[in-house]
Amino acid sequence: MIRIQTEKRLDTLTTFGLRSTAEAFAQASSIEDLQEAAAVARERGWKLHLLGGGSNTVLMSRVPGLVLQPVFRGIRRETDASGSVLVVAGAAEALDDVVGATLQHGLGGLENLAAIPGSVGGAIVQNASAYGLEIAERLAWCRAWDRETGEIRLLTTEDCDFGYRTSYFKSEEGRRLVIIEAAFRMPAEWKPEISYKGLGARFEGRAPESIRPEEVEAAVREIRASKLPDPAETGSAGSFFKNPVVTRIKARELITLHPKLVTYPLAGSRSKLAAGWLIEAAGLKGYAEETVGVWPAHALILVNRGGATGEDVLRFARGIAERVERRFGVTLEPEPVFVGTDEAF
Ligand code: EPU
Repeated sequence: MIRIQTEKRLDTLTTFGLRSTAEAFAQASSIEDLQEAAAVARERGWKLHLLGGGSNTVLMSRVPGLVLQPVFRGIRRETDASGSVLVVAGAAEALDDVVGATLQHGLGGLENLAAIPGSVGGAIVQNASAYGLEIAERLAWCRAWDRETGEIRLLTTEDCDFGYRTSYFKSEEGRRLVIIEAAFRMPAEWKPEISYKGLGARFEGRAPESIRPEEVEAAVREIRASKLPDPAETGSAGSFFKNPVVTRIKARELITLHPKLVTYPLAGSRSKLAAGWLIEAAGLKGYAEETVGVWPAHALILVNRGGATGEDVLRFARGIAERVERRFGVTLEPEPVFVGTDEAF
């Protein structure tokens, strides 16, 4: 049975902490709950919005329709037919708790994703990645409920069609799926993943065999703490913009003009640019308006300075993107999902 709350304040349900009220809100901890929520939404003509851990979500001040938060929990260990160790987690488990549980059981492989806020489900939807590792590299499978057919579907990593900060679950077709649980395959022979520049520097001179997963975890936590705001103190959605992908020609043009520009060559003839660098070079690092600002230690992060709404964030972020576009001719796209508006960014 679900409990529907009307005119529900959602301020504490996202890491951004934006002021927001939903027309209706419910949690679902079983397939029956999901079915019931979908039926109620149909009956009342409510649009259904999914909310996970709220770490990548910008809520408008009023969200019409039903905000549904799946709360599937549990973390267990399994062994598959090939003998690999799988860690299976409910989609609502905090990704960081899963990372912690694996390390406690002596299983390395997820430590680079330590301290990422949000749920397992959300991390899969946007293919969360940090410090040299992306979720896609560890996911074995996930199970999802199809809200149109009512079926439970098993998706392999290939089915998830992962890309940079995207997956099948973000596509028109995949948006009808609600992730219920996911299995991560832990590497049989663990090796430290320290290719990220700032991470490798911390292990200089160390033989890879002497490094333990907990040390990588600790280093990742430290690096994050030095760049990102403490989620307990300052509201944000982590990186607000994706790193833009441009043609090699455009990247070369920009490098000629701005030799310090940070670029990452991609397969094919494209390059990814560091959006944080572009925003900083446009003079916007630390720039703030009344309720929203650019984080002084990392220009890719927009923060809630107190009392912000989704409308404030949208307006502010558009201003940042416009200034970067004018200065560099590069279009920035937001990373978080906007809930409660159909307007394009
Ligand atoms: N940079 C600046 N100024 C800044 C910020 C960054 O010049 O204010 C430069 C840095 O010096 C560096 C480059 O930009 O050369 C890249 O910065 P960083 O290594 O911090 O990574 P990022 O590309 O800004 C991405 C992810 C982060 C993830 C880190 C580490 C995206 C949108 N963001 O950030 O993910 O933690 O790499 O792997 O891809 C998130 O998604 O919320 C998130 C925090």
